[in-house]
Amino acid sequence: MRTEPAAATFEVFAEEVRRLARERDAVILAHNYQVPWIQDVADFVGDSLALSRRAAASEASTIVFCGVHFMAETAKILAPDKRVLLPDLDAGCSLAASITAEQLRAWKAEHPGAVVVAYVNTTAEVKAESDICCTSSNAVDVVRSIPEDREILFLPDLFLGAHVERETGRTLHLWMGECHVHAAIDPAGLRERAADPDTEVMIHPECGCTTTALWLLSEGALPAERTKVLSTGGMVAEAARAPARRFLVATETGILHQLRRAAPDKAFEPLDAGAVCPYMKMITPEKLLRSLREGVHEITVPPQIAARARRAVERMVEIGPTAGSAGPPGIPYRE
Ligand code: 13P
Ligand code: SF4
Repeated sequence: MRTEPAAATFEVFAEEVRRLARERDAVILAHNYQVPWIQDVADFVGDSLALSRRAAASEASTIVFCGVHFMAETAKILAPDKRVLLPDLDAGCSLAASITAEQLRAWKAEHPGAVVVAYVNTTAEVKAESDICCTSSNAVDVVRSIPEDREILFLPDLFLGAHVERETGRTLHLWMGECHVHAAIDPAGLRERAADPDTEVMIHPECGCTTTALWLLSEGALPAERTKVLSTGGMVAEAARAPARRFLVATETGILHQLRRAAPDKAFEPLDAGAVCPYMKMITPEKLLRSLREGVHEITVPPQIAARARRAVERMVEIGPTAGSAGPPGIPYRE
């Protein structure tokens, strides 16, 4: 058995991962932005909401989270009795880093009585200061679940917040945070590239280019029935069911692997091929093997923080995605 996946075939790598996972009673969860080998070896691949639900429902005693730190922390909050491992502790998130618990406490003090809605891309400490969490697939439903007369602080993603404002017709107080990968996606050429009637445009709500796309929509330069704002899981479901033959995809490019699996006879092109999250790509096959072999790196959340964050995360998990923003329950490979 070779231990260097870079030199191994995928089958040899996958066999060793499966053997170790069985031995360690581990389930492997992977986000849609992971590198193809990690996606293909995982027990379950999905978007943030599907992965949180899967972590909460898992019967394995260990969860190896192939994603970024806030995702592993969320799994630990939902499954406190399980061992949660993240193969690289440096796999962070620029969006989650855009607000601290201290900043949130100061913001709350300016708006006493406001309901705090936190995107799941936040630290456990920020979740503990929040009333309810959301992901890109249920943010609209989460805001709709809050009485109309309540003020809402929505954090940390300003583009997702603006999308929720448009969908719900409500005015939110928005934190001015952004994901450096999605904010930088360049919409140049979108109108021309989407002109073909067989092409559909799928845009993640964290993207800075959503505003340009929606302006083009309002001008009639993009057809409404072929322009969708979707979570990554929603994109996978849409790829399988939409009649279009070609898709322009505005999000992190790791999703292309899942899209091509879901609809192998259709064509998928990134709107911006440079949209690559350096944190998601830190999880390599070598690090996954090491994580399984050595039990590293264990994620812990102080019990008092976890207890407060759990209320907000459990509310998020209970609220389903809106039709149109819907993701599938994830793609199970071996279940
Ligand atoms: P979803 O997969 O939930 O759409 O979120 C994308 C994301 O930003 C993960 O970092
Ligand atoms: Fe964070 Fe953006 Fe990377 Fe997602 S793509 S993990 S939001 S930095």
